[in-house]
This record gives sequence, structure tokens and C-alpha cells, in this order.
Amino acid sequence: MARMLEDLFKECGVKGWAAGHATLAQIQLEAAMLRWTAVPTRRGGPDVATLRPVDPAEAQPNSLSARYGMGAQPLHTDGAHLHEPPDIVVLTCETTSTTPTRLWNRMRYGRFIPGLPESVRHGVFLISSGNDSFFATAYASGRLRYDPGCMLPCDARARQAAQFFEEAESSTTEHTWNEPGQVLLIDNRRVLHARASAVDEPQREIRRLSFHLNREAS
Ligand SMILES: [Fe+2]
Repeated sequence: MARMLEDLFKECGVKGWAAGHATLAQIQLEAAMLRWTAVPTRRGGPDVATLRPVDPAEAQPNSLSARYGMGAQPLHTDGAHLHEPPDIVVLTCETTSTTPTRLWNRMRYGRFIPGLPESVRHGVFLISSGNDSFFATAYASGRLRYDPGCMLPCDARARQAAQFFEEAESSTTEHTWNEPGQVLLIDNRRVLHARASAVDEPQREIRRLSFHLNREAS
């Protein structure tokens, strides 16, 4: 039974993320049992991405590292350049890390607030995705999509939306990687995340798996 991942996913329903302990192999096995589909966030890339702080010169084009290097990242969702971004992102750290992951949800008083500013629903962004660029809003069909690394605001409302997410930086919660073998499951449809500055921890290593949920079951 896929209890660990299922329990984390249920817990995630409350605030949009949940932390526990697991190995990569256990996550992959349980995800397969739940019929979640792995989504590489780089075309043709591996299912498991190893995330290390890198300088802009070594970074993938259009990645946050290309713009921010080892410094603090802005809040974003993963795979924003994809037509169908992953529903769930799972981060794991085999050892520990002094660089926290920042998380933001639209929650107040213990509940998700359904309303978002009009700008987030209606501002149009150009999504850079190589030869396959397209237009999208930051919120559609119940999910958020935002990454200033690949989304260019095209109108005044999109610029307001970008400002809204910039201001959200002041109300994040930090997940600290202070125990080996931690796993952090993030609902990428409604939570934005960001790595704090890793300038003092260039050896940091996080692994990432991304999934589409089993759509037949939901
Ligand atoms: Fe990310």
C-alpha cells in the first residue's frame, strides 16, 4: 500500500504542502502504485532532477538560476513553461541543508481564500518555452502558474499580478532541511515555493520528482 505518499498527499490538502521522511525509491514506487505520472520539468530530462546551486553562466537558459544564480529565488511554481505543469512536486534531501525552502499559499485563518486579485486571473503573460511559446494567465482552471524566469507580463494586469507575487515574498513559511532523509510534498497547483539564498551552501543538493495525479481517479 502506498501509505507514506498517500498520507502526505492527504495532509497536503490542508495547507498545500506536507513534510515527512522517505527515500527516492519509496516515493517512486508509491507514486507508481497511485498511478501518478512522472513529469520531467525539462524536455527530455530525467524524471529525477538533481538541484544544485549554480552560477548564471552554468545555468540552463530561462531557468531561475540563469537570472538569480545562487542568490534567493523568487516565488514560483515548477514547470510553468509547460502546457500542463506538474500537479505535485516532491523534494527530497538525503542529508541536511542550511538553506530553507520558502512556501506560500493563499491561506488565511486556517482556510484557503478562494478569491485572488483580478490581475492574477486576467493578466496575460507570454510563456517562454523554446519554439513552443504561448500566452497564459497566472491563474486558470483552479491552478496557479507563475515563474518570473519564463513568464513575461504582456499587459498592466499581468504587471500587477507579478507585483502581487513579489509582495507575497513577505508572507512565506520556511521549510528547514534539518534532518537527513526529509521529503517535502508540494501541491504545485496552489502553492508557490522558492529556495532561499544558497550563497553560503554551494554544495546543497536536493532531488526533485514531479507528477501529474492519476486523472482517472479524481
Ligand atoms: Fe522550483
